[in-house]
Amino acid sequence: MSPHAIVKNSTNQWWKNATVYQVYPASFKDSNGDGWGDIPGLISKVDYLKDLGVDVVWLSPMFESPQCDMGYDISDYEEVYAPYGTVKDVEDLVAACHERGMKLILDLVANHTSDQHAWFKESRSSKDNPKRDWYFWRPARYDENGNRLPPTNYRSYFAGGTWTWDETTQEYYLHLYAKEQPDLNWDNPETRQAIYKSAMRFWLDKGIDGFRVDTVNKYSKHVDFPDAPITDLKNYIQPARHLFCNGPRIHEFLREMHDEVLSHYDVMTVGELSNTPDPQHVLRYVSAAAKQLDMVFQFDMIHLGMGHGLEDKYDFTPWALTRLKQIVKKWQQFIDGTDGWTTVFCENHDNGRAVSRYGSDAPQHRETSAKMLAVMQTTLTGTLFLYQGQEIGMINAPKNWPIDEYKDIEGLNYYKEADRQSNEGVDPTRRARIMRGLQILARDHSRLPMQWDDSEYAGFGTAAPWMRVHDLYKEINVARQTGDPNSVLSFYKRALQLRKEYAELFIHGSFKLYDGENENTFVFEKVGKGPGGNGEERALVALNFSKDVQPFSMVERARDMKLLLSTHAESVSESLLPFEGRVYVTERSGLVN
Ligand code: GLC
Ligand code: CA
Repeated sequence: MSPHAIVKNSTNQWWKNATVYQVYPASFKDSNGDGWGDIPGLISKVDYLKDLGVDVVWLSPMFESPQCDMGYDISDYEEVYAPYGTVKDVEDLVAACHERGMKLILDLVANHTSDQHAWFKESRSSKDNPKRDWYFWRPARYDENGNRLPPTNYRSYFAGGTWTWDETTQEYYLHLYAKEQPDLNWDNPETRQAIYKSAMRFWLDKGIDGFRVDTVNKYSKHVDFPDAPITDLKNYIQPARHLFCNGPRIHEFLREMHDEVLSHYDVMTVGELSNTPDPQHVLRYVSAAAKQLDMVFQFDMIHLGMGHGLEDKYDFTPWALTRLKQIVKKWQQFIDGTDGWTTVFCENHDNGRAVSRYGSDAPQHRETSAKMLAVMQTTLTGTLFLYQGQEIGMINAPKNWPIDEYKDIEGLNYYKEADRQSNEGVDPTRRARIMRGLQILARDHSRLPMQWDDSEYAGFGTAAPWMRVHDLYKEINVARQTGDPNSVLSFYKRALQLRKEYAELFIHGSFKLYDGENENTFVFEKVGKGPGGNGEERALVALNFSKDVQPFSMVERARDMKLLLSTHAESVSESLLPFEGRVYVTERSGLVN
């Protein structure tokens, strides 16, 4: 099939109003009782997603993979990991989504492959292999005593160095993540063409509707590979993100990818943009005129509670609500007056659950705080992304689960590093601190099996799943919440409907923060065009992030407005109950459409 020649234009932007729902294939639904979620399982739940109000399904990597990093280590872009299903199953999933007016996007993992990918096997086979230069190979360095050293001192994302020695060809190769994830050399035009063909057009031609673009700002490296400055005196390896994020040719590569591949299809792209705090820089990626990406995930809010830099990511540091508010404000307002676009999200497969991080997972607060976060998410401007289980208020794994229940390579590597540093006396309390951090921030929390009902294994499947089911699955599950008008699930459905009904206000409106210094409540206003583009509408959103009753500072303004949505059936207007969330809107005068 030849690519359809669809030119993107400003009137063809279905992805702006879309609600996207991320599915983590291993943990969503197991159809055949082997303990692993799969694509037929997902297909059996497409009606559930439709009913929730989902427009686009984002499926995390389901490609052939040795699963060192849960599929973010791809050994064949054109095959599906057998436990998840087949290429035909993905085609059926595309059809199942399209039949219901929904769309499907996949993950594009093109910064690195698995070390089991045929490209890397060839590349490592000899120094003069034609694919040698598809990855980064560099000779060793030696210190004054003749000890072999890697080409640079970079710290990788998974608590180790970024270079692995290859005995056969006596050189090191680069990997920003695990050693099983060698980085592709985007500076080589042949490599880029191979990625476009195998990782992109292969699936685009099967009718998928776009990509979430993994680690999107890491394709371009400083290929002279300078050492990073020494800032961590405990280690040889040093923080070096500035040397491999937003590299010199990144915008050129993304523009080429857009022009040569993406512009030929009616698709959306959302890039995973880490380590880029400057709004002007983010705009270079998402401005429509730049023709690179439609939007990106920016991670300032997700980083709340994480320690400084890569090395201390899991050393939990308490954060203040005022900081969260400034972050939301910054990333709501950065597109004002520009041709760029933004995203709204608070969960994904790389983080702890939002209720446990930003609300409270204590029994008396968890449902309310899940709803309060739903109010915040559904009234903010940008494309909204939900993560599986967020719609029922799933929470972090219990704190008493031992480290053996954690499976993620990143978390485990940090734990092992901390264990070593504690044992060696370099940092005696580090093991305990990192364990505490993992209890809040680990990537594992979001990877627990989806809780469908109260049968054994939470209705995820008929056999013990690859990760332990949450202890509270009998209380928090889809079946229990379906049809209950007061459940988190019903609340999400209603909030998602209102988001569509008031799209100009909630999805496209401008954002204004009130009372920025208040440490307990988050109050903001949205302003947008009225129905049919006439006049102007306003919404006032009030959220109590605390466990106590708080005064509602904007009560006077709210009196002239209509209460559109509230976490509590009955409340007093002058104050906000613990974790209460409310949305008021200006009355629509007579105009019904
Ligand atoms: C992205 C993914 C994460 C993965 C990493 C390496 O950050 O979201 O899960 O480990 O890329 O591919
Ligand atoms: Ca299965």
